[in-house]
Amino acid sequence: MKLEDYKDVFEPFDRLVEIEILGIKVKVPENNTLLRCFQFLSIETVSLGDFCWNGDCANCRVWLESTSKDKPVLSCRTTVKEGMKIVKMADEISLKPSGDDKSEVVLDDYRAVPSDSIF
Ligand code: FES
Repeated sequence: MKLEDYKDVFEPFDRLVEIEILGIKVKVPENNTLLRCFQFLSIETVSLGDFCWNGDCANCRVWLESTSKDKPVLSCRTTVKEGMKIVKMADEISLKPSGDDKSEVVLDDYRAVPSDSIF
């Protein structure tokens, strides 16, 4: 399974934005929901995960850092913004590169290429 096989599922984007997931900084495509961003990072586990993608299941819930209380949101309904900090995630969200060297290289390549040549 390769990221390029899924290029049509992402909203058009010109650049990657930086967010933080459980303390780890990552770059993900702007103009996309957080769940799509998770898919960008971990194409296999999120594509095959148990998600309705339409707001019904709540399996995609994450908690965003907030000045008062961390704010729960549905990642399939929340558009990514630069600097977002996700401090907690539902157990159903698994972000793991497939483990083979090739998939990690592909992901790194997508992060490195000029924005106008992504997809
Ligand atoms: S994927 Fe089901 S509510 Fe977001």
